[in-house]
Amino acid sequence: MLKQRVRAAFDRAAPTYDAAAIVQRRVCDRLLDALQIPDAPQRIIDAGCGTGYGARRLRSRWADAHITGVDFAPSMLELARQDFDACFTADIEKLPCEDALFDLWWSSLSLQWCDAGIAFGEAMRVLKTGGWLAVSTLGPATFHELRHAFAGVDHHRHTLSFSEADAIGDALGRAGFRNIVLRRERHIVHYPDLKSLLRAVKAIGAHNVGEGGRAGMLGRHAWQNVEAAYEHFRQADGLPASYDVIFACAQK
Ligand SMILES: C[S@@+](CC[C@H](N)C(=O)[O-])C[C@H]1O[C@@H](n2cnc3c(N)ncnc32)[C@H](O)[C@@H]1O
Repeated sequence: MLKQRVRAAFDRAAPTYDAAAIVQRRVCDRLLDALQIPDAPQRIIDAGCGTGYGARRLRSRWADAHITGVDFAPSMLELARQDFDACFTADIEKLPCEDALFDLWWSSLSLQWCDAGIAFGEAMRVLKTGGWLAVSTLGPATFHELRHAFAGVDHHRHTLSFSEADAIGDALGRAGFRNIVLRRERHIVHYPDLKSLLRAVKAIGAHNVGEGGRAGMLGRHAWQNVEAAYEHFRQADGLPASYDVIFACAQK
């Protein structure tokens, strides 16, 4: 099942995650910048917390908050444990906690592996009335270079199917959120070559793309074609990998 494969990939990636998570840290910082709320949250949940960078950033703004980390990959959580007041291994689509517990539901770059409607329903349930949601996720232009480079070579899927910003806004509205504010930014990371780019995606654990992904290796000739196609995107700083980042803040 896809979810088990995604979870296993993140679990294996925990030791290599921090060294490769350049965009992930940048996006966390931007999400915190965008989050302007009137009162300091007392209880925060970090949904899909990874190795705990989000908790450290949240703590730098709200030193007294009680922060709970949730991730379905136990090895990620093991590295994050010291940054949280409480943490547990769970699926953010089915949180094992009572209703109306948190003032802030925070999630950075984890939602793209979830059913947004279900995850937002859970966020709604565990938030107190008046509580806030802050989320970053990925839009359809993410890794467009990769899709283009593979387009003529095979018919497999090479990226997740990412949601449009409007779909994220609609899912928040359907879950019952109000005061929804959406923003979109393009973030680009450069790599010296395609092998290092793909290695970095794997080091984060983000290489599972769902049904239709390639199971085996590419032949040498096909690989050379992909490399040549990707070279068309080369910029002064190297080969770009684009992240189309959607930020959303909303209130229960
Ligand atoms: C790209 S990492 C982001 C981690 C962290 N938020 C950060 O900004 O560095 C995505 C994380 O979401 C977790 N994740 C993905 N889907 C999940 C789900 N349904 N339930 C719990 N955790 C999930 C993964 O295990 C991984 O640690």
